[in-house]
Amino acid sequence: MTSPSVLDLVSAPSRAAPESGIVEIVNYGRQVEGLVKLWVGEGDLPTPAFIADAATRALAAGETFYTWQRGIPPLRAALAQYHTKMFDRPFAPDRFFVTVGGMHAVVVAVRMIVEDGDEVIVPGPAWPNVPAAIELAGGTVKLLPMDFRPEGWTLDLDRLEAMAAAPRAKAILINSPANPTGWTADKETLAAILSIARKHGLWILADEVYGRFVPAGERAASFHDVAEDGERILYVNTFSKNWAMTGWRLGWLEAPPELGQVIENLVQYTTSGVPSFLQHGGIAAIEHGDSFLAYQIERAKRGQAILEAALSESNRVSYAKPGGGFYLFPTIDGIDDTRVLAKRLVDEAGVGVAPGTSFGPGGERFFRLCCARNEGEIRTAAERLADWLRKL
Ligand SMILES: Cc1ncc(COP(=O)(O)O)c(C=O)c1O
Repeated sequence: MTSPSVLDLVSAPSRAAPESGIVEIVNYGRQVEGLVKLWVGEGDLPTPAFIADAATRALAAGETFYTWQRGIPPLRAALAQYHTKMFDRPFAPDRFFVTVGGMHAVVVAVRMIVEDGDEVIVPGPAWPNVPAAIELAGGTVKLLPMDFRPEGWTLDLDRLEAMAAAPRAKAILINSPANPTGWTADKETLAAILSIARKHGLWILADEVYGRFVPAGERAASFHDVAEDGERILYVNTFSKNWAMTGWRLGWLEAPPELGQVIENLVQYTTSGVPSFLQHGGIAAIEHGDSFLAYQIERAKRGQAILEAALSESNRVSYAKPGGGFYLFPTIDGIDDTRVLAKRLVDEAGVGVAPGTSFGPGGERFFRLCCARNEGEIRTAAERLADWLRKL
């Protein structure tokens, strides 16, 4: 008798968890020399020294022990301060919970609200990690395809309302500004979504990690602009993008304080907390990181303009101008499978892109370019793409 493969012995949800379509292309192009890599969702700047130094000092000072599950008090206070300043009203530190990156905030939020068979409405194309986390928790992802027009991606609120009325509907994920589409909801749209959620008793999972990356002004519209304290909204955020800290794995979940003990327990039983010396880096980022953030935003904007100019030379390319975030998500007339396209761009153009196939249904015809890179690289990628498109 042959013994079963160990693969058959793991739980069905973990077996079903999808492989990242971006990683597939990264693996495909990893060894290619001279490739300009615009495929991942991160900038190319290292973490600024003032942030790294704060963590190093805390490490040297012996911050090496188990720590608060909810996050160290001075970081929670700094997060409250940051929100108070940004939204011009008081926020209490007990709303903030420090997590291992934005992704862990997603996992804790999803575990807290999703039970077997619960439906979470996800407008798409979407960053695939959240749908995967929902399914790992036993939930069902209900994709709400967004409509693409070159004037912008739009969310159909009537369809949202219809899906929200389903008996097992539990939550709505709103990622604004969105990865990968750049869709950025205005205040009125957020208010309309909130009123649908209120009417049907649903949670909102507000992923606002790109909230500072907007073309003009300080920030994108947020559910904070339209919601009351104590509502069923869980905010996911991160240090990763604003302060070039992707590798730190430092983020936060914001939730009504009554959920504090539940969140503390979920942190305890998933990661048992975030290294306290890293959290000191987070404090430095929040307290002294404004000018670095402004510099990053400007740089990404410049990168976006260069790539847009190159793509616009071809009358076969269309894209919606992003309202926020640091991506472009174009489509090429006549090319339907961007998994194949991404490999061709590696081989024929020397540019690494993320295929839209990795962002779920509705994304297949698109590909994602990260604009938060240095100008030299962006210019090279822009020229190569324009050249390749000319020959197409
Ligand atoms: C939309 C969105 N939400 C959350 C995250 C998670 O960020 P982190 O890298 O801090 O886990 C990302 C990262 O790419 C993202 O694009």
